[in-house]
Amino acid sequence: MTAHHRRAPACAGIGLRLPHLAEIVATRPAAGWFEIHPENFLANPHATELLTDLARDYPISVHSVGVSVGSAGGLDRAHLARVRALVDAIDPVLVSGHLAWSTHEGDYLNDLLPLPYNRESLQLVSAHVDEVQQGLGRPYVVENPSSYVGIASSTMTETEFLGELADRTGCRLLCDVSNVWLSGHNLGYDPYVYIDAMPAAAIAELHLGGFVAEEDEGNPGEQVLVDTHDQRIAEPAWDLYAHALRRFGPKPTLIEWDSDLPDVATLLAEAARADAIAAAGSDTERRRAAG
Ligand SMILES: [Fe+2]
Repeated sequence: MTAHHRRAPACAGIGLRLPHLAEIVATRPAAGWFEIHPENFLANPHATELLTDLARDYPISVHSVGVSVGSAGGLDRAHLARVRALVDAIDPVLVSGHLAWSTHEGDYLNDLLPLPYNRESLQLVSAHVDEVQQGLGRPYVVENPSSYVGIASSTMTETEFLGELADRTGCRLLCDVSNVWLSGHNLGYDPYVYIDAMPAAAIAELHLGGFVAEEDEGNPGEQVLVDTHDQRIAEPAWDLYAHALRRFGPKPTLIEWDSDLPDVATLLAEAARADAIAAAGSDTERRRAAG
C-alpha cells in the first residue's frame, strides 16, 4: 500500500451530488471538502472532467455504494477496477464504503442489506476488504450500516466486528453517527455505549445524515427510524455527534444528504454547525487542560 500525501481535513464537508455540480464548479463555495459517489461519475465523462478539475482545489472523499465487502458471492472486480481508475484520476483523501451486502448474483439491490456478525462473516469480509485495498492501492474505510433488524446468527456486536476487521486488514472505520442513533433506536441499544465501544484509533471519518420516523408495520404504535438522507440532522444526532468528537477527537465529518436535495447554502449551514460543535468541544478541552 502506498503512502498518500493528501490528508483529509478534520472539518465538515458536504456531499457533491450531480444536481449541484455545475453550480459548485462555477461558484467554488467555501466547503471544507466534498464527498462523491463514484457510481454517479463512472458513466459520465463530462461530470468526471468537472470533478477532476474540482479535485485540484478541494479535498475529495470517494464513498462507493457499489463495492460490496459483505457479499457472499464475492466482489465485483470490474466495478472495483472502474472505481480505481476514478480514484487514480482525482487522488481522493479517503475512499470508503459500507459494511453491507448490496449485490446478489450480479444484480444491484436498492437497499444495503445487513450481514450477521460472526467468525464466518468476519473471515469473508476481511478477505474482501484485503482485496479492495489491493485493488485500490490504498486503505479502505468501512462504515457502520443503518440497521432495522438484528440477525439471530450474530455472535459478535457490531463494534467488536468492526474492531476486529480493522485489526486484521488495517482498514480504517467511518462512524456514521446518525446510523448509530437510529440503529440504537431500532434495535434497542444505547448509542452512547456504542460510540464508547468503537475503536477510536481506527476512526477516519464521521457521517451525519437526516432520517425519518415511520410507523413500524410489525409493531403497531411503535416507530422505526429510517435512514433517508433527505433532511436536516436531528437534534439527538447532533448531541451524539458532540459525544463522538469527545471520544474520537475532531474528524472529517460529512453532511450526508442524497434525496430531496436542498440548496448548497443549506448544506454549508449544516456543515458550519458541525464545525461549531467541534470548535466548542476543543474550547472545553482547552479550558479543562488549562484549569
Ligand atoms: Fe453514512
